[in-house]
Amino acid sequence: MTKQEEPQYEHGAIRPLAIMGMLGILGLTVIVLAFWFSPPMNWILWMIGIPLALIGIWLGITYVAVYHKVIRPDYIGLLGSTVTGFCDSLHGDEHILVVGCGSGHVAIGLAKLLTTGHVTGIDISEKVSQDTPTSPFENARIEGVKDQVKFQYGDPTEIPFEDATFDILTMDNVLHEIEEQDLKIQTLNEAYRVLKPGGRLVMLEWIRNRKMSTRLLFFAFVFKSLDYWNTLLAAFTDFQVDHPHLIKGPIDIVVYTMKKPD
Ligand SMILES: C[S@@+](CC[C@H](N)C(=O)[O-])C[C@H]1O[C@@H](n2cnc3c(N)ncnc32)[C@H](O)[C@@H]1O
Repeated sequence: MTKQEEPQYEHGAIRPLAIMGMLGILGLTVIVLAFWFSPPMNWILWMIGIPLALIGIWLGITYVAVYHKVIRPDYIGLLGSTVTGFCDSLHGDEHILVVGCGSGHVAIGLAKLLTTGHVTGIDISEKVSQDTPTSPFENARIEGVKDQVKFQYGDPTEIPFEDATFDILTMDNVLHEIEEQDLKIQTLNEAYRVLKPGGRLVMLEWIRNRKMSTRLLFFAFVFKSLDYWNTLLAAFTDFQVDHPHLIKGPIDIVVYTMKKPD
């Protein structure tokens, strides 16, 4: 029997964090081994082993668990249903742009909802370079939508498409990666530019709050608070921004839908 091919929707940070988890186990081993040594060697080993175990196991296990619990099973359905829910349901003929598409799980999930429409995923990652067709291309082939979706290099701050090209643009967990506030605003302006009049932007971000901080420790600082996003988007008056939707879970998520006026 041939083994069925599985898509690989890997998150970029998952491997380093899994390695940290393994280093945590190494730290535990060092703590146990230290009992066989006399002072000062046992103290030195504990000083190495205890922080390694605490940080490594906490980060590795919690992040990997959150990743498996939140992103992997729910994301395609979550963004797909959010897009359909907020765009008076998809007709199937839309042209959709997924900005910061990563390994393609959202783009591929959306492509499955279309008939004559098309999805384009852009990312600054080398994985979507035309010269190295790695995971998103492979995932689309395995999922049977390689003709409905394409991937290419693209910087969100300079989206490589003409004005008014897309009916829908999605951006999940991408804007927080762009450090500078003026570049975030430039990205939103670019989204506005490439959307057709009446087009929709669906933006999704993990929220930094106390729950996230206890689960992701210092990785929480990569993300932004709900207040931050509300303030940023309130100042962005070109779009008609709907009331944000909060999705409570192991990590809370906010979804903003915005319409470019007709
Ligand atoms: C957290 S990942 C999310 C990827 C994908 N949307 C998902 O949900 O799996 C952020 C994505 O933004 C891209 N990215 C990271 N830093 C960026 C930056 N400064 N400018 C533009 N894109 C960036 C990465 O290549 C990555 O694919």
